[in-house]
Amino acid sequence: QSSVRTDEPQYGRLKLYWEIPRKDIRLVEEIAAGSFVEVWKGKMKKYPNSSEIQKVAIKKLIENATEQERKFFLGEMEVQKMLQPHPNVILLIGCYTFHEPWLLMLEYAQEGTLYEYLQYSRPGAQTVQISSNSVHHKNINSHRLLAIAAQVVNGLMHLQKFKLIYYRLKTSNILVGRGGICKLTGFGFPHEITERNQYENDTLPVECMSPESLKEQIYNYRTDIWSYGVLLWEIIHFGLSPYLNLEREEIEDDILYQLMLECWQEDPMKRKEYPDILQVLSNMAADHS
Ligand code: ADE
Repeated sequence: QSSVRTDEPQYGRLKLYWEIPRKDIRLVEEIAAGSFVEVWKGKMKKYPNSSEIQKVAIKKLIENATEQERKFFLGEMEVQKMLQPHPNVILLIGCYTFHEPWLLMLEYAQEGTLYEYLQYSRPGAQTVQISSNSVHHKNINSHRLLAIAAQVVNGLMHLQKFKLIYYRLKTSNILVGRGGICKLTGFGFPHEITERNQYENDTLPVECMSPESLKEQIYNYRTDIWSYGVLLWEIIHFGLSPYLNLEREEIEDDILYQLMLECWQEDPMKRKEYPDILQVLSNMAADHS
């Protein structure tokens, strides 16, 4: 009795295959730059010894990175490796750390950021080419907006299982993949995030930060809940209110507003937790249908 595998192991799904041969990776176009990484659009073989190619986002460590920056880069890689795949979290596909520059290959989110997605999804908005492969936006209704809000919570709950936090949760930091699925990226362990902020002297997204993060540099999943409230506000204002035929007084609006307030409790322990947030959103979606 033998079970013979006939399928080729896919890169990234088996830990043995995290390290990708450099010849299977191609950097195509730089799309963003951070303080010590560049983000590239790239291509990568889907399987070892295959001609099938997949699009990937590649994080590349800059030349002359300091010891500390290398440590942060490898830290992010290790966090991504231990994380189980989830549809609402950007997936690590593989890495290249054999020679410098080191590379991290990540799932490519073809629809760009949630911020752009909401802006260009408004009825009446022209279909604007926001990046070379993101052109077909459909109008979104309140049902879609509730689904987006729920997808983000699902991603956050997944991170919580691994003791990870997001800390800079806002629509411009969330990516949107095929079919309009929201995906979180750029998370980490709270202590690493704190260390990194201090090191980078990051321009922090103060508008979405909790009072305790601003005053005491505290980051945990309850500070993420505060930011989630801000995200709901952004979803409503960028996506919903300007065009949907909803009156301000309408009950859905009120429920969402209450939900935001419950995320913005001054006392972190009083903030609504993810499963309860999800429950409110699914009740609303059910009322809508
Ligand atoms: N920008 C940063 N990360 C990205 C990703 N995974 N997909 C598309 N664009 C990105």
